[in-house]
Amino acid sequence: MAMASANALCMNPGDKDISYANHSSLQKNTLLKIRPFLEDTITDMLNKILPVSFIKVADLGCASGPNSFFPTFEIVDTITRVCQQSHRESPELQVFLNDLPHNDFNTVFRSIPSFHERLKKDKRGLRVPCFIVGVPGSFHERLFPTRSMHFVHSSNCLHWLSKVPRGVENNKGNIYMSKSSSVDVFNAYSKQFQMDFSKFLCSRSEEMIEGGQMLLTLLGRNITDPTNKDGFPLWDLLTKSLFDLVAKGLVQEVDVDSFNIPFYTPCQKEVREIIEKERMEIFEVNWDFEDNDYNTNFVFEKNRSGQNVAKTVRAVIESMLVNHFGEIIIDDLFIRYAHHVGSIVWDLVFIVLLTLVSMGIGSL
Ligand SMILES: C[S@@+](CC[C@H](N)C(=O)[O-])C[C@H]1O[C@@H](n2cnc3c(N)ncnc32)[C@H](O)[C@@H]1O
Repeated sequence: MAMASANALCMNPGDKDISYANHSSLQKNTLLKIRPFLEDTITDMLNKILPVSFIKVADLGCASGPNSFFPTFEIVDTITRVCQQSHRESPELQVFLNDLPHNDFNTVFRSIPSFHERLKKDKRGLRVPCFIVGVPGSFHERLFPTRSMHFVHSSNCLHWLSKVPRGVENNKGNIYMSKSSSVDVFNAYSKQFQMDFSKFLCSRSEEMIEGGQMLLTLLGRNITDPTNKDGFPLWDLLTKSLFDLVAKGLVQEVDVDSFNIPFYTPCQKEVREIIEKERMEIFEVNWDFEDNDYNTNFVFEKNRSGQNVAKTVRAVIESMLVNHFGEIIIDDLFIRYAHHVGSIVWDLVFIVLLTLVSMGIGSL
């Protein structure tokens, strides 16, 4: 039976109507929320390791578009400030932008000159020489040489699993864990997350220098019951939209049954079981990216919110849907999806777990 594959995961490239580059404001809101933690972590690391001649940092799951450069810009900003304050020469910075091989690295690479221009304009006082490279590969495996990395960042990525878990083949009528899923399905998702997250941490622990730091942000849930509406109701609404198309004869029910998303939002306890000591912060971001801390004029309008959320989700999941169901249903599917989301979006928040991990040698 065909299963949705994590290999088909690819944010919509720059030349798509609904590209990730133009429809990732929601993820940008997450990056804005964690900015103070990013600054603190980098400052802490610099205080431990300076003076050094170079620093190697990685952004894992960089996708393409403005968000790909956001962490790097903040890191340069912090290095500049810390070095200015302590009257030190700035170290050189090597930045590794990682994502899966199908990611739109062309768009990323094409944006590097304008990123350098922006740095030149903004940081006239002190220049941090910054060398950017792309690293295609899975962050569930080793990506860098042993003991080579000073800082690793990843935002909005680690809830993606390396594959659809074994044991969800009978998750009929669902594309993710849902109220009607069996306990085996919940266990299979949870187990796959634990394996993937542990592999991620093991790989990084081999790659980090002593005193290196990580900042990881992933979607999670604040309640243990995964079927609670704060679990991940947006996939239930996508299932509902797919079944609208089944009713119209545009999609086959058997294809919905065999589609399961390689995605998992862990609860705090599950993350705690893997990371015992590190600091974890939890905060919420609204699904409609326009409803954020900086937009004081926001007025809720359900159709607009439904559209906003639908475009955000489409930019992320379209490639996987096309791979399984074909291109022809996509516009129709997301019209229905926007409608379904609009009718409940006022009631939705998502929870972000912010995990701050310091990893010296042997800390895992
Ligand atoms: C929602 S995007 C987040 C992009 C960016 N970090 C942001 O905050 O806007 C998730 C990214 O994680 C990447 N990703 C998922 N699993 C991955 C893996 N195993 N290795 C590397 N990248 C992965 C996806 O390809 C995608 O580009």
